[in-house]
Amino acid sequence: MKKSSVLIAGGGSTYTAGIVVMLLESVKEFPVRKIKLYDNDAERQQKVAEACAIIVKEYDPEIEFSYSTDPEESFTDVDFVMAQLRVGKYAMREQDEKIPFKHGVVGQETCGPGGIAYGLRSIGPIIGLVDYMEKYSPDAWLLNYSNPAAIVAEGTRRLRPNSKIINICDMPICLEDIMARAIGLQNRKAMEVRYFGLNHFGWWTSIKDHDGNDLMEKIKAHVGKQGYTENTPAGQHKEASWLDAMRAGKELLDIEPKFLSNTYLKYYLMADETVAHANKEYTRANEIIDGREKEVFAECARIVEAKTAKGTTLHSNEHASFIVDLAKALTFNTKERMLLITENNGAISNFSDDAMVEVPCIVGKNGYEPLTMGKIPTFQKGLMEQQIASEKLAIEGWIEGSYQKVWQSLTMSKTVPSAKVAKDILDDFIEVNKEFWPELK
Ligand code: NAD
Ligand code: G6P
Ligand code: MN
Repeated sequence: MKKSSVLIAGGGSTYTAGIVVMLLESVKEFPVRKIKLYDNDAERQQKVAEACAIIVKEYDPEIEFSYSTDPEESFTDVDFVMAQLRVGKYAMREQDEKIPFKHGVVGQETCGPGGIAYGLRSIGPIIGLVDYMEKYSPDAWLLNYSNPAAIVAEGTRRLRPNSKIINICDMPICLEDIMARAIGLQNRKAMEVRYFGLNHFGWWTSIKDHDGNDLMEKIKAHVGKQGYTENTPAGQHKEASWLDAMRAGKELLDIEPKFLSNTYLKYYLMADETVAHANKEYTRANEIIDGREKEVFAECARIVEAKTAKGTTLHSNEHASFIVDLAKALTFNTKERMLLITENNGAISNFSDDAMVEVPCIVGKNGYEPLTMGKIPTFQKGLMEQQIASEKLAIEGWIEGSYQKVWQSLTMSKTVPSAKVAKDILDDFIEVNKEFWPELK
């Protein structure tokens, strides 16, 4: 059985240890010979890497483990790059969230102006990863989680159209696991879904079991009562602010009763309520700095100090399982059906060919094939046209260094009430993003 070499880019990420554990737990179906980490922040990465080194050694000393900030060393001899950069780190996420709130607009990591600001920071470094990979390991695949995945995907489509990069998101699969548990199934793998939309902007149109029996009505009954909240401790999204998003599933079902909505639609369709209820001084970034980030780094330090990972709380999760499943499908031609972000080209028949959409795809050795989702209704089509225009204008603005286009991108976002507000937010963003953005003229 082929053994792969995997590079995790953004090695200092809070998700790295989970992916490493998942890789180790999956060695029977997806054997690995090497796990490497790459980051541009040596000090941050080292804290995670030293703990991962112990985890790997205790699990299987034959698997080589290393970490580096040097691109040549990192990208040489790899089969997969699993990317999860946060360009500007949590300090900039805090700005992405707080600046829009200051202007009465939703402040979110991937949606609205915050997502656009983050997109303009991410695209350059992601293209950098693609280029390193193609230089040092031309046959490798880049599996990208780095957000905002929608804008990153449009950027890679425009700038590296022939590269082996697949942009992905864990939200649909996490929600599918919740749906599955809500109706007494073990997990999402017991279900077959039809889904269409853009990243963080989509809908399930059909959910069936593998015998073809419809499960939508049962799931809707749950969502109609309590959104995507559940009565089990399972799953990734359990903090207070996530529960708000999960609860919104119920209102989203009122807005579109035919389908099940992705929770991220809350930020567009329930923007006023989101702004009204948000703590504008203490946003999700603060919650993570005081929560997930602290916990992960404390646990890594504990492992290093104890010189053993025995009894560790670091564990695999849905996020890790999805990206490892994808690598497995590409390596062993499993033909697994997975939701990926792909160029439309007719998958949604009444939507632009050149839009990056999120639809189910069949994944095998030679890449992936999107499944046809057919025609979509006017409501969704209208919303998606506006959103894709915003995403495309963001990337065009970055490529051309155009103030006008980035301003139009913000104006186009359904979260922003007027061009004037868009301009005020943009001007504040330019001030704090000098180190990361091209100069906009
Ligand atoms: P994090 O800040 O803990 O980790 C990100 C790491 O990237 C940091 O160690 C940072 O130093 C590194 N980094 C930043 N710029 C870099 C560059 N140019 N080159 C190399 N390394 C660089 O963040 P996190 O919360 O663990 O999230 C990581 C990323 O994964 C974020 O973009 C997040 O939004 C994304 N994410 C996406 C999904 C999805 O569904 N697509 C799910 C979860 C997380
Ligand atoms: C979901 C989304 C991701 C997002 C992640 C973590 O899984 O799909 O795009 O990055 O949640 O969000 P958080 O706010 O916990 O960092
Ligand atoms: Mn996502």
